[in-house]
Amino acid sequence: MSDSVPETSVPETSAGTPAAEANTQTTVTAAASAAIPVATIATLGQHEGQTVRLRGWLYNLRESGKLVFPIFRDGTGTVQGVAHVKSVAPEVFAALKGLTQESSVIVTGKVRADKRAPGGYELDVEGVEVVQRVPESDPYPITLKEHGVDFLMEHRHLWVRTPRQSAILRIRAEIMRAAAEYFDTNGFIRTDPPILTPAACEGTSTLFPVDYFGEPAFLTQSGQLYIESTALALGKVYSFGPTFRAEKSKTRRHLTEFWMIEPEVAYCDLDGLMELAEQFLSHIVTSVLKNRGPELEVIGRDKAKLEAILPPFPRLRYDAAVEMLNQAHKDGHLEAPFEYGNDFGSPDETWLSSQFDRPVMVNRYPADVKAFYMEPDPKDAKFALCVDVLAPEGYGEIIGGSQRVSSYELLSQRIEDHKLPREAFEWYLDLRRYGSVPHSGFGMGIERAVAWICGLDHVRETIPFARTLHRMYP
Ligand code: 4AD
Ligand code: MG
Repeated sequence: MSDSVPETSVPETSAGTPAAEANTQTTVTAAASAAIPVATIATLGQHEGQTVRLRGWLYNLRESGKLVFPIFRDGTGTVQGVAHVKSVAPEVFAALKGLTQESSVIVTGKVRADKRAPGGYELDVEGVEVVQRVPESDPYPITLKEHGVDFLMEHRHLWVRTPRQSAILRIRAEIMRAAAEYFDTNGFIRTDPPILTPAACEGTSTLFPVDYFGEPAFLTQSGQLYIESTALALGKVYSFGPTFRAEKSKTRRHLTEFWMIEPEVAYCDLDGLMELAEQFLSHIVTSVLKNRGPELEVIGRDKAKLEAILPPFPRLRYDAAVEMLNQAHKDGHLEAPFEYGNDFGSPDETWLSSQFDRPVMVNRYPADVKAFYMEPDPKDAKFALCVDVLAPEGYGEIIGGSQRVSSYELLSQRIEDHKLPREAFEWYLDLRRYGSVPHSGFGMGIERAVAWICGLDHVRETIPFARTLHRMYP
């Protein structure tokens, strides 16, 4: 394509001059561009030796005399371009020289394999169309220098453009895709529970109230109670959607709005549920390794740690976990002694989960510290038939689940004991009046899973726009 017209109509005076500070909307002659295939950076390998058109943004620019090295990004990756003053039309060189970070550009160039390049290819630039030039007077706020987390969160709408954040979001999407795929291909039917609900599922202290035409309502904490209903209708179901917790806790694991995927299975007991959880998690990790290898490299994730995530996962009874915590306290690894009968705190979970190279399934917690709907262990009713799956490397709980109370009488009693409004639960009690069966389910918080799989120390980077105790902007 060496005889093609350079794709630029940037006014000659524009680059780097104040005149260019207006939004330069430029056009390309249709004839020149029509013949050139549009490519993405991720698929440049299919176009080696060809001239292609990339539509994206300027990520960074290095200049050295007669050469400019613009790095472009297009959402699928980044690629370095090369333009020599003598090899491109003067207006192309002028448009690139001094081009500002995050200006949007449509660039044409020849794809050249280069072993040293991060993605394996470079682009010999032939033409450029600046779609919008970011003015020098109001530069892109996120430079390639280090910024504080507060600043970055305040600019989250722009921060998502950086390669690391984009890679995390791609891995998140793969986790969500693989999670749904696991259920879709294993006989589960997706049934979507409501988000506006009349009552609590996971305890009354973390409900977000909503004014529902003058009546009180709440944003859902979990779809569980509703999918127990659809499980008794369809056998194996799952739900996947946003859930809300008015958590006053400001930890690296808590969001007020997060996404949960929840399976629920009729005629399934706790053992069956734990098998489901390990198959499900293994499928997700395998899929991420298979489909998001380059992204894991961008974020510097140790893949060997993920390759170790193979079933079977260890099962650990609450009692045995408490023994481990006591020993850890004696050995000076944990500050506070653990009080038998309590739920685990964050440091306890961190310790426990750092003792294993794969997720550990802690089961049979004391019924008193767990939710009202959990089936008691028939061998000892002090314990609940429940499981928390703790991710390795200190990540802690990513899955919580249980077998559900199936007796009408016991469930009635629990609703009363927990001082829940019985009227709001009549329909839920119906599930025990009419054809009650043993059934089980769990919920996995997507952001906790992303934090673990990506090796991030905070959930705020695992979701496009985190909602936390102190953040609602942007
Ligand atoms: O353990 P949880 O509270 O269990 C339930 O909601 C059950 N009704 C689920 C079920 O059995 N169908 O929450 C399940 C998971 C946790 O393991 C965690 O991964 C995530 O949801 N989660 C949170 N993620 C981020 N921020 C929060 N505040 C979270 N609370 C729970
Ligand atoms: Mg839990």
